[in-house]
Amino acid sequence: MDIRLQALRPGFVACVTGLDLGEELPDAAVRAIEDAIATYAVLVFPGQPISIDEQVAFGRRFGPLDSGLQKKLLSKVQTRLGNEAVSDISNVSMDGSVAGRRHRQAMMNVGNQFWHSDASYEHHPFRYSILAAQCAVSWGGETEFADLRAAYDALDPHTRDLVADRTGVFFSHNVRQWLGMEDSAEDMAAYPPVRWPLVRTHPVSGRKLLWIDSKVREISGLSVPEGRALAHELLEHVGQRERVYAHGWTAGDVVMWDNRSVLHRGRRFDMEERREMRRVSTVDDAASLGLAG
Ligand SMILES: [Fe+2]
Repeated sequence: MDIRLQALRPGFVACVTGLDLGEELPDAAVRAIEDAIATYAVLVFPGQPISIDEQVAFGRRFGPLDSGLQKKLLSKVQTRLGNEAVSDISNVSMDGSVAGRRHRQAMMNVGNQFWHSDASYEHHPFRYSILAAQCAVSWGGETEFADLRAAYDALDPHTRDLVADRTGVFFSHNVRQWLGMEDSAEDMAAYPPVRWPLVRTHPVSGRKLLWIDSKVREISGLSVPEGRALAHELLEHVGQRERVYAHGWTAGDVVMWDNRSVLHRGRRFDMEERREMRRVSTVDDAASLGLAG
């Protein structure tokens, strides 16, 4: 094993080579990846055309994989990949053809175009997400990552004081409601809102981070309009270009990120074109979130 890291930005995003993700990773490689992601938050593994089973096996080396999202929400749309630990981030219908832009599978993914951390609306959000590209589009469709640690560091003192002791209400359906998508009462009830502090300390790196997300619909101590306006402003701050890395996909790329350190979003593309991706995610627990209690 000869793992090589190449930083794409100072302290943010590294390209990792010298590994075959399709093979069982030695413990030393797992530790090296965990060390690297604590520093860089996003790791890019080019040229790794792994199968579903290989992706699941790779993910499991970093913790238990989530299956709740598939069970509670996505499987109601379709179950093309046949594995509850794997989310289908594709515009492909069950028969293998490109899902039309009004197909629910395609519409569900539109919500991914807004800055978010995977499952931030859950009591047990995701720690690592691992996204593998099978088929990339010819234009657009990049995944952008924004550094929440650098965003906190760059807050002006007044805003830092303003958010210091506040919490946000994170609601799964916030973006989909804004997008005009109709979720059933059962779907809404499956994800009751959760409340998180807007400032957290990463349990491994020790860095403070600004914990905001497009799913925030209220901020403690503020009226609903003022809270939503502040959430919007904070998201604009997080998404400033100097804190963003845009990954343009090539088939066979695998990207792994720490949802505790970055927001991400998918960029627009021509929905008539096939874009095929799949994701596995490890589940976090309250003790590892950097929260008191
Ligand atoms: Fe996501």
